[in-house]
Amino acid sequence: MSDKLAFIHRFEPATRLEAPPLLLLHGTGGDENDLLQLGGLLSPGSARLSPRGKVIENGMPRFFRRHAEGVFDEDDLRVRANELADFVEAARNAYGIGKPIAVGFSNGANIAAAVLLLRPDTLAGAILLRAMVPLAHPPKVDLSGKRILMVSGDHDPIVPRENAAQLASLLSARGAQVESHSLPIGHQLSQADLTLGRRWIEALDRTTLEKAS
Ligand code: MLT
Repeated sequence: MSDKLAFIHRFEPATRLEAPPLLLLHGTGGDENDLLQLGGLLSPGSARLSPRGKVIENGMPRFFRRHAEGVFDEDDLRVRANELADFVEAARNAYGIGKPIAVGFSNGANIAAAVLLLRPDTLAGAILLRAMVPLAHPPKVDLSGKRILMVSGDHDPIVPRENAAQLASLLSARGAQVESHSLPIGHQLSQADLTLGRRWIEALDRTTLEKAS
């Protein structure tokens, strides 16, 4: 296998070929096993590619370094987002899958947002659960044709409401089709995330996904 497949990861092949492939990105302290089940519930039969973040913070895997809670090391984030995009490309070749929809939670949602902004060709779209603005000066990329679902928590102690709203509007301003929800919950995932995510994936226009592949 190519050394670009240099993330510890799990891959579960599709059992329903028309289901969109998913790239599952865990939160801080998670690993490649964390979101596999969620991915299967969101989109039964989808291929699931699930890497483990390479940065270790107090023993906990993450996808990029930070200076403090919510204060990102943007130089590291840029390097890691590109590295993850290269991994996705290599994995698509190795496993023969189409362009994936990222499903990211927390730190995983933040790196998914960074990949969309820095390497937009990597993803067909994204479900961003508790995401925040990843870069202070996001590049003016063209995100037209990308579908994005954002689900935030009104009582999230980590992601201020305005920050999530800012991310939704900067993605829309770059042409992405963003559906954004704020729920009366905190940072942790809830049944409502699953319900919204599942409905959103079911409604995805297959031709848009095919065009993006
Ligand atoms: C991050 O560092 O990406 C965010 O603060 C979310 C988290 O706590 O991981």
